[in-house]
Amino acid sequence: MIAHAITIFLSKGMGSFTMGKKNSLWIQKHRKDYYFRLAQQKSYRSRSAFKLLQIAKRHEFIKQGQKIVDLGAAPGGWLCIARNLVGDEGYVLGIDKTPIASFRMENVKTLEMDVNDEHVVDIILKKTKGKVDVLISDLSPAMSGTRSLDNARQTHLAEISFEISKKVLDSHGNFLVKIFDCPEGQQFFKKVKKCFKKTKFIKPEASKRRSAEVYIIGIDIIDPNKNSKSRTLI
Ligand SMILES: C[S@@+](CC[C@H](N)C(=O)[O-])C[C@H]1O[C@@H](n2cnc3c(N)ncnc32)[C@H](O)[C@@H]1O
Repeated sequence: MIAHAITIFLSKGMGSFTMGKKNSLWIQKHRKDYYFRLAQQKSYRSRSAFKLLQIAKRHEFIKQGQKIVDLGAAPGGWLCIARNLVGDEGYVLGIDKTPIASFRMENVKTLEMDVNDEHVVDIILKKTKGKVDVLISDLSPAMSGTRSLDNARQTHLAEISFEISKKVLDSHGNFLVKIFDCPEGQQFFKKVKKCFKKTKFIKPEASKRRSAEVYIIGIDIIDPNKNSKSRTLI
């Protein structure tokens, strides 16, 4: 069903956008990568689109008609996939500190904003006209090459995503966030586990094996007013 939705999406040319000159060197460097080539063939805005597609196919945590917030959304690969999963009746808001080329579909909106901005929650809730069903975050810092620093920066972005999710998710809302496989990531997982009924680490096939990135999925946020037990998915 997801594959069908994506096929319709692509046949309508909704995934296409114009790449700047700056990207051409990056394209040359990555042209041998399977998912990179596939993303080009399918006119996806990024190879990351396949990561969300694979996670969504397996966990079905985004449904038709839902409201989604996507943090770290540029250039928009995840936005394309999320839009297809929620369909015409849903709504997707993408936020990134770098500009995102606009989408033709009316129910995909983008915002150029740093997630550290103190007004980010208020602005999200205003744009989405209330609480949302799913928050997805593929936020990534610029890599320094120093593992400890990159781990700390990635964990910081995941923590911000988590804090935002607690304020914008409706009851039973779902959460997906990128983290690195490191001690800080394990500590972060423990915090997420306390707030969702089901949690799991995920390494989608499209995520490069040598990369430390993994995703944490949190299903069904625990209403802070209720005393509910959580469990880890297997
Ligand atoms: C891996 S990319 C996201 C790719 C995207 N999911 C897609 O499918 O096209 C990570 C993004 O996080 C963004 N980012 C990093 N730090 C940020 C911050 N503090 N506020 C907003 N965006 C940020 C970067 O600008 C970058 O576009």
